[in-house]
Amino acid sequence: MQTVNWTILENKVSIWVREAGEKIKKSFAAPTPLEVSSKSAYNDLVTNMDRSIEQYLVEKIRTNYPGQSIISEEGFGDKPDTVNGILWFVDPIDGTLNFVKQQRFFAISIAVYENGKGKAAFIYDVMADEFFHCLAGQGAYLNSEKLKPIKNCVLKDAMLDLSMSWLKPNKRIDENVLTDVIQTCSGTRSYGAASIELAYVAAGFLNAYFTMRLSPWDYAAGLILIHEVGGIATRVDGRPIDLLTKQTSLLVAGPTLHGEITNHIRVKINEGKNVNEPDSVS
Ligand code: IPD
Ligand code: CA
Ligand code: CA
Ligand code: CA
Repeated sequence: MQTVNWTILENKVSIWVREAGEKIKKSFAAPTPLEVSSKSAYNDLVTNMDRSIEQYLVEKIRTNYPGQSIISEEGFGDKPDTVNGILWFVDPIDGTLNFVKQQRFFAISIAVYENGKGKAAFIYDVMADEFFHCLAGQGAYLNSEKLKPIKNCVLKDAMLDLSMSWLKPNKRIDENVLTDVIQTCSGTRSYGAASIELAYVAAGFLNAYFTMRLSPWDYAAGLILIHEVGGIATRVDGRPIDLLTKQTSLLVAGPTLHGEITNHIRVKINEGKNVNEPDSVS
């Protein structure tokens, strides 16, 4: 197996990500309109920019790191059935709905894992010019500022990030399971770009991120940042996350808050409430 110089990799990917960010910014001024189409639902959008940025990044990875596997959203990557070796995760535009509707609050997210262990993470909020990055064991950064260890807050003092989808009737979770949690916490937010929301938990701007449905390219980089600052990331009932599962639930927080919320979910499951997470391994 090819040995990786992680510092060189960090330098290279940082350049690619910023170059990709420039391409996206330029596209806003282009005379040709964005081509937008729907995937699984009317609000599940993909654009020509999602595809062309993914193509650009995948080509950079394949040229510089031949033979390494890539899991990516828009189909230019591979379909590995093992986490052995070096595995890249690419989300070319995380927050496509924001990209299309708001032209802000979207990110490029890239992660590199070795034998299932997170090694390098890059999340670039293009319009805010906020670059969250990390080499495992060397600290997590927002631009050049080192992130502090995660705060160990309790639910009463916590800012939680979750989508309204999980508070109204849906297939994945009984809409009442989170009522007590929402009533107890300090406040809720929902930014609509999972990678940025995970980076915000790592940076201490939020205390927890909760979702019932997320794909590896959405969370792979965020998880590395979270671990680096001492946060905990599991499925919402505390079970471990499988990087090859196409859709997983995810709860990310500091240790105390994470324990409070997973205990609450387990109590609700024992009471017979629906918390339904299909094990859809790819
Ligand atoms: C989506 C965003 C969103 C999350 C969805 C993801 P996309 O990614 O991260 O916040 O709730 O589950 O699919 O499709 O915009 O890359
Ligand atoms: Ca998408
Ligand atoms: Ca995404
Ligand atoms: Ca995407």
